[in-house]
Amino acid sequence: MLFQTFAILAAALGAAAKPLGRPASENASASLFGFDKDTGLTKFTDLGDTSATTTGFIFFGSMLFVDVDHKMEAAWTARPTVVDGQSLFEVGWNVTADDAIPVQLNTRAPMHE
Ligand SMILES: *[C@@H]1O[C@H](CO)[C@@H](O)[C@H](O)[C@H]1NC(C)=O
Ligand SMILES: *[C@@H]1O[C@H](CO)[C@@H](O)[C@H](O)[C@H]1NC(C)=O
Repeated sequence: MLFQTFAILAAALGAAAKPLGRPASENASASLFGFDKDTGLTKFTDLGDTSATTTGFIFFGSMLFVDVDHKMEAAWTARPTVVDGQSLFEVGWNVTADDAIPVQLNTRAPMHE
């Protein structure tokens, strides 16, 4: 169970580092982390993108939260998907699809026993 949780988190963080859609490396200006206001999908974008939330991120220790009306919220989700035959997780914010798994985004891997 611990390993499975770790695998999901690692996959989720891998997906966050390399979001679906346009890779950040294709456009050097697309370097702001954010999530789409409609779909909740995380992406890298730029300052002028009004369709994405790109501010309000807060670290508490190594955990990533979002300031929602002055409350620290963590509504991150990972949703299984397949891109070019590769199984991945889409990392999202507040995604309510049945197969969306709640996850905590963390800068550190969990400790092993
Ligand atoms: C990078 O993306 C921005 C916003 O999407 C766009 O305005 C700009 O032209 C792009 N630059 C290149 C080199 O593709
Ligand atoms: C998640 O979405 C629901 C429905 O739109 C909304 O009521 C809720 O406030 C959102 N939660 C967060 C943490 O943004």
